[in-house]
Amino acid sequence: MASGRERLIFPLDVSTLEEARALVALLASDIATFKVGLELFTAYGPAAISLVHDAGAECFLDLKMHDIPETVARATESATRLGVRYLTLHAANGPKTLTKAAAVAKGSPTTLLAVTVLTSMDDAELHAIGIMASPGDTVLALARMAKGAGVSGLVASAHECKALRAALGADAHLVIPGVRPLGSDANDQKRTATPREAIVNGADKLVVGRPIRDAKDPRAAAQAIAREIDEALSGRA
Ligand code: C5P
Repeated sequence: MASGRERLIFPLDVSTLEEARALVALLASDIATFKVGLELFTAYGPAAISLVHDAGAECFLDLKMHDIPETVARATESATRLGVRYLTLHAANGPKTLTKAAAVAKGSPTTLLAVTVLTSMDDAELHAIGIMASPGDTVLALARMAKGAGVSGLVASAHECKALRAALGADAHLVIPGVRPLGSDANDQKRTATPREAIVNGADKLVVGRPIRDAKDPRAAAQAIAREIDEALSGRA
């Protein structure tokens, strides 16, 4: 079974390559996967991915793609050539785009993750974009559709983990952001849970950013979260 270190994903949400490189050097012995998102990739492109690979870690390219099938498929092809471990696209792209992207990613080192409902969204935010169903029901519907289209990696909140596991079974790969150790600030996240709760609910991987990045001692914060994951896993086994 994967350890806390292997289940933890740290987003490199910083503005320069130097800061990203320093964080990877500091945390690579405690965290196996680093996420390159919109901020760093927009500024530096593939160089941001290379710095993660150069440190012997895996890269999660979080571009949350949303476009027509042809465009998403071609961008997926480009990402697989960069050797990233994960690549995100919105489940709301719909079945045609997901099916085409899944076919492109098949046999590559890249696992596609369909983003269901962002963890920063609650009922009010969903209503504002015309979705009257609850976040839980929306996540489940999007996840079922994504799995049917050949994308069984999913990004959702810990609140939906249990229902997703029950509905989709063991082969769904559940990546959970919005994770907050007890006592830390929720920031702009709405549907949060502790590392322990997320693991108990069936999460495979946890994305934890600001509670590590903004800690006085980021390494100690990462180690404490990895330990909490290990303890929760021994309870789950
Ligand atoms: O732990 P923290 O809130 O700082 O993590 C924020 C990171 O998680 C950002 O990189 C953000 O893009 C990512 N994320 C998210 N919600 C999602 C998917 C990804 O917050 N549904």
